[in-house]
Amino acid sequence: MSDDYRTVNRANWDERVPAHAASADYALDRFRSDPEFISDVVRFDLPLLGSVEGLRGVHLQCHIGTDTLSLSRLGATMTGVDFSGPAVELARSFVASIGERVEFVESDLYDAASVLPNHAFDLVFTGIGALCWLPDVRRWAEVVARLLAPGGRLFIREGHPMLWALADARPDGLLVVDYPYFEREEPMVWDEGGTYVETDVEFEHNVTHEWNHGLGEIVTALLDQGLSITGLVEHDSAPWEALPGLMERLPNREWRLADRPWRLPHSYTLQAVAP
Ligand SMILES: C[S@@+](CC[C@H](N)C(=O)[O-])C[C@H]1O[C@@H](n2cnc3c(N)ncnc32)[C@H](O)[C@@H]1O
Repeated sequence: MSDDYRTVNRANWDERVPAHAASADYALDRFRSDPEFISDVVRFDLPLLGSVEGLRGVHLQCHIGTDTLSLSRLGATMTGVDFSGPAVELARSFVASIGERVEFVESDLYDAASVLPNHAFDLVFTGIGALCWLPDVRRWAEVVARLLAPGGRLFIREGHPMLWALADARPDGLLVVDYPYFEREEPMVWDEGGTYVETDVEFEHNVTHEWNHGLGEIVTALLDQGLSITGLVEHDSAPWEALPGLMERLPNREWRLADRPWRLPHSYTLQAVAP
């Protein structure tokens, strides 16, 4: 397969970095003013994540590093990895400007185990819009397995593949399955302005190439790498407004279908442990 998807997707991500850094959702000023502040995403994770104190952690596809910094504030020694140069630069300079220590590495996901030490991390953390950028979930699982130390843990909370398969909001409120649930070689190609945070910025690079991966495919890819699945929880909310027009915001800042949310698994948390 051509690597073209990386060029296209990176242009899209690079351009969105300043708008995300300026947005209320990524809350950089709250990280700056309150040394104990952690992201909504990591706060949601805490009951399943437990203590990360003293762990050597790597955050794959870390974007501008707000969840990475949150895990560092909870006591882990964190490295964040992302293929977007501007995202990594922003994360590095922000963390340095507030006097905290998190390492950030610029790398494609599939190269991460070539640029980072292998079997050296107690925690691989990822998700919330990460897997959809990768064409092959088996290669992702190989990277996870190479990074994990013996007994180390993968923690992923991700948009549910059933959610990714749905059509946009319809006037009748029905949820209609319109896009692939299973991984397919062909990407879904989108051309959409805007982004998932509120911004007035008009973007130029709006094409993306994305893939879905079924829950069974994700679990099987990890099992095939010798990992043991230790938890799989499906949630009735997601941290972004995935179906605009159909969702309401909850007190914990998650988004959920306003009408009969029990119809749909919105996101899931999957945990697995290396032998
Ligand atoms: C929605 S963010 C997920 C991060 C986190 N949930 C957040 O919101 O801060 C997706 C990230 O994946 C990165 N990404 C996309 N494709 C990638 C690839 N092939 N290798 C490494 N990073 C990639 C993008 O640059 C972006 O920062």
